[in-house]
Amino acid sequence: MSITYKDAEGVQGMRTAGRLASEVLDYLTPHIKPGITTREIDRLAAECMKKQGSVSATLGYQPSGYPPYPASLCTSVNHVVCHGIPNDKPLKKGDIVNVDVTVIKDGWFGDTSRMFMVGEVSIAAKRLCQLTYDAMWHGIVQVKPGMHLGDIGASIQKFAESNGFSVVREFCGHGIGRTFHEDPQVLHYGKPGTLEELKPGMTFTIEPMINAGRKEVKELGSDGWTIVTKDHSLSAQWEHTVLVTETGYEVMTLSAGSPPPPPFVNA
Ligand code: MF3
Ligand code: CO
Ligand code: CO
Repeated sequence: MSITYKDAEGVQGMRTAGRLASEVLDYLTPHIKPGITTREIDRLAAECMKKQGSVSATLGYQPSGYPPYPASLCTSVNHVVCHGIPNDKPLKKGDIVNVDVTVIKDGWFGDTSRMFMVGEVSIAAKRLCQLTYDAMWHGIVQVKPGMHLGDIGASIQKFAESNGFSVVREFCGHGIGRTFHEDPQVLHYGKPGTLEELKPGMTFTIEPMINAGRKEVKELGSDGWTIVTKDHSLSAQWEHTVLVTETGYEVMTLSAGSPPPPPFVNA
């Protein structure tokens, strides 16, 4: 495996796929309220993708050693870190849920996730969701030719840990393009100036998983996919797909409903 660099046509393809993935989240947003099941969210996402003419990248996805993933998106509730499988349990007031959508359009992949707060949530849960969003953006603003992958990880880790949270180590961002998960790996922790140098045309995700408690995670064990915090503390995640441009970065997974960048991000 090696890093793929996108030309102008690839960038256009990635922009479209990225926008569509984000628009699926926009479509779901008004529905994510107490009482809805994650299976219903999955059904709505499939309906939206059908209207878009896009295809879910997760449905039937089967990396080696895993069973085929059975849904059109991932829904990770409370102490679920990632890869939660939609089910028939209704969301309740106070839950936090990550909804992670990856679509394929004309062969290009767009991958993005957001946190949703179900009804009113605790101050601690809200703070975790907001600080994890800021952590993702602390990584994004590092993206520029000449910077290194280690700068992204270090920036996220420093921000998260200085706020008393921990960074999940076992899962990372990834190159993305005509395949779902390609080189490079994008760690959400590390040392400035280390690892691969960023060059124009690279596209990868930044998707920190941040725990309110300890960093350790484990497999739930019952379905081959679901990852939870070992200490059962809350976990949050946000994800964007970004392009390295000649002068910095372009976020490819934006749409009308994307939350604005935090105040510390200048254009
Ligand atoms: N969308 C996830 C990511 O950000 C991957 C989900 S794989 C699945 O990389 F099979 F669990 F859906
Ligand atoms: Co991803
Ligand atoms: Co994702």
